[in-house]
Amino acid sequence: MQQIESLIRAVPDFPKPGVVFRDITPLLADAGGFARCIDALAEPWQGSGVQAVCGIESRGFIFGAALAQKLHAGFVPLRKPGKLPPPVVHIDYELEYGVDRLEARNDALHANERVLIVDDVLATGGTMAAARALVERLGAKLVGASVVIELAALQGRARWRDDGAMLQALLRY
Ligand code: PRP
Ligand code: MG
Repeated sequence: MQQIESLIRAVPDFPKPGVVFRDITPLLADAGGFARCIDALAEPWQGSGVQAVCGIESRGFIFGAALAQKLHAGFVPLRKPGKLPPPVVHIDYELEYGVDRLEARNDALHANERVLIVDDVLATGGTMAAARALVERLGAKLVGASVVIELAALQGRARWRDDGAMLQALLRY
């Protein structure tokens, strides 16, 4: 875990003053570090029968696709608006300034399919909450969610309903 942490660069005052940006690109560029990161993300879910990994556009695609391979599961992208052909289902969610939307194909998951949601960072938790609502609207069975980084001070975890579906974070800042 220390090796993974050492490959995440802290960039002060980006994208605005007072914010410490956690840059994952050195981790992605390091073959051993990226592989160990995917191994660590997969570990809690081995044997839990995950059938589909839903990755959140865009940084969630990177970890989600690799994790889907590791877990022998399919990969389903949860996309920003206007990228997928219809018919789609969507969930709107609030950002610090304004709103955003996640979309999925209306037939992307089947009833009770066992789903793991993946993203790079949990910050305020709004994105993850929207992804969860989308998966549930599609009638799938949410097994849990994994993020590489949890920014604990932003309390995103408080927006996660802990009703058997676990939210796992590799690193907490
Ligand atoms: C970032 C990050 C998470 C989300 C977390 O994505 O990758 O998806 O914000 O924030 P929240 O917990 O406050 O909702 P962003 O929307 O910046 O886009 P990107 O993944 O395309 O870079
Ligand atoms: Mg993102």
